[in-house]
Amino acid sequence: MKNKYPNLSKPIKIGNIVARHRIFSAPTGLMGYGAGGHMTIDNRAYYEYKASGGCAVVSLGECIVHGESGSSHNLQPALDDITLLPSLTCLVNDIKRHGALANIELSHGGKYGGLVSVGGELKEGKVAYGPSEEILPTGEHIFEMPKTMIHELVRYYGKAAIMAKRAGFDMVNVHAAHGWLFSQFLSPAQNHRSDEYGGCFENRARFFLETLDEVRRCLGPGFPIEVRMNGDDFVEGGMHLDDYVALAKLIEDKVDLINVSCGSHEVEELFVRTHPSMFYEHGCNVYLAAEIKKHVKVPVSCVGGLNDPAQCEEIIASGKADIIEMGRALMADPFLPKKIFSGREDEITPCLRCFECLGQSVVAMGIRCAVNPIIGNEVEHRIQYPPVDHPKKVLIAGGGPGGMQAALEADAREHQVILCEKTGTLGGALKFAKAIDFKQDLYKFSQSLQIKLEKTSVDVRYHTEVTPKLVTELSPDVVIIATGATPIIPKIPGIDGSNVFPAASIEEMAPDAMGENIVILGGGLVGCETAIHLGRHGKKVTIVEMRDEAAADCNCFHKTAVNMELKKYVTVLTGTKAECITENGLSGRDSAGQPVFVAADMVICAAGMRSDNTLESALADMDVEVYTIGDAVKPNKVTQAVFDGYYCAKYL
Ligand SMILES: Cc1cc2nc3c(=O)[nH]c(=O)nc-3n(C[C@H](O)[C@H](O)[C@H](O)COP(=O)(O)O)c2cc1C
Repeated sequence: MKNKYPNLSKPIKIGNIVARHRIFSAPTGLMGYGAGGHMTIDNRAYYEYKASGGCAVVSLGECIVHGESGSSHNLQPALDDITLLPSLTCLVNDIKRHGALANIELSHGGKYGGLVSVGGELKEGKVAYGPSEEILPTGEHIFEMPKTMIHELVRYYGKAAIMAKRAGFDMVNVHAAHGWLFSQFLSPAQNHRSDEYGGCFENRARFFLETLDEVRRCLGPGFPIEVRMNGDDFVEGGMHLDDYVALAKLIEDKVDLINVSCGSHEVEELFVRTHPSMFYEHGCNVYLAAEIKKHVKVPVSCVGGLNDPAQCEEIIASGKADIIEMGRALMADPFLPKKIFSGREDEITPCLRCFECLGQSVVAMGIRCAVNPIIGNEVEHRIQYPPVDHPKKVLIAGGGPGGMQAALEADAREHQVILCEKTGTLGGALKFAKAIDFKQDLYKFSQSLQIKLEKTSVDVRYHTEVTPKLVTELSPDVVIIATGATPIIPKIPGIDGSNVFPAASIEEMAPDAMGENIVILGGGLVGCETAIHLGRHGKKVTIVEMRDEAAADCNCFHKTAVNMELKKYVTVLTGTKAECITENGLSGRDSAGQPVFVAADMVICAAGMRSDNTLESALADMDVEVYTIGDAVKPNKVTQAVFDGYYCAKYL
């Protein structure tokens, strides 16, 4: 079989070790470590799961070199606590037993260390030190870091590196990106010191360079040191690409790999560039790595929204970078490397860049993934269930994401599965994504489920609605109801006019054939994303939303990304109740009771969804095990449908 990815699959030397290919798992930290930042069984299983999918290197995210001053959330592993060593050592073994190299990120939050506004559930902030004194927008006071503390932290980086080596890590990654300690010192916008650690570029870089020397001294020659740095802060007065090229040249003799990221963790609008939202192109930050690579001899890796094997191969082949680091793509599908290198790319579950992972870490201090129900449940996944003794006949109603996921899992458990879809195509609520450029990964996800289904023995029946009659005829042991939801049509005059369309129907409408002035009735996620799509096609779009904010129903990071796009393309009228639609537009009333009129050629109704679970009551009297999943229980996001489908089938 011809290797389609000769560059991506090529081993690469980093310091004195060799990585087996060019796909690395970018550092991802967790919010849900154990008390004191100890690795729990769940944490270990999360990293092991990544390693098991075949990536060359698995990186543990931010570990803080000095817990008292540097923690940017209150459960972070602090490497100055020796009691962490045993669980870190176990974690390293978990990673390495799958042939991956283990990497650990050494970090310090700098001015954000220990702040109430940053540190998870902290009730009282600690005294925080940054390069210079300042008052943050939160009102928190930052003190200028004394020189004695700088010298002490340099030593702590060295000690942390020694701890990492003792635990068996193959590499360390010194974090100088994303607005944490070294980013702050490097930035002319933040560092106003008058001593040898502030002022000119060399002075601002001094702390970082002294640290790299100390880490090298502690680890010895050849031990691989990666640096993660920005290629652009994207902040006025901050460091930009030219400055980072200069920095790369300054450090290249001290390190073995430069990973080029960008932006900041603590500035909302930059966060969605550091972790590129679905509104950015895949690989939107690669140009930063590519420029830096031109100026240094040491290997350079790139990161940000990369999940397409052909694009990754091209990046390496064309010399833009030597290594691809992937964060979320390897959560959506840790087996991406194995699939790429065995000709099964069509089975890759793509990352949607929907921020369910990071959103969940804020809400529940846990982790999850919209398209991979195993993330956050890896221990459960590792349990080897005994084979099913008596395979059941499983009838699934509905071929949306929940129904397809249930079919795949039930088939994997060797049940006999019939999947009935009342239309002529699978995909359910995901079908609309095909028409929207920033939703292509969602569309691909739907396709990947279908491709996987084709490789199973699931009996897919199109144009077949599950009814009590069909259940009687087929006599299944189990019925899984995955019939989804239907749009809510608000009862306002004019709603049945010929100029009113449900949001889902935009799948069938070419923007060119639509009117120029469009009102979207409902500013939930569906309404907002539809509005952005049409706004990007040059339409004049107005959202009319009753609640006080748009996209109220989505996670905080995606909300930021959505609002940034809305600002560019859409007029949003919140607190506004629609009262009537005519052929000229929509009338309503704002929160002060004042009349509002929006002229429009077309009204798109995105007023929410209602569960379609009529089958549940229709089957109530029948002698069959029934489970209802996904939107048929309660309209929700794809995350819930996938999760329900997977776990419902797993326990049959
Ligand atoms: C859940 C999660 C946790 C992360 N934790 C860290 C971290 O601890 N340190 C770090 O440098 N980057 C962290 N990142 C950022 C990633 O390493 C990566 O740079 C970013 O997600 C962009 O890459 P992607 O588009 O492939 O996800 C995290 C990302 C995610 C999704």
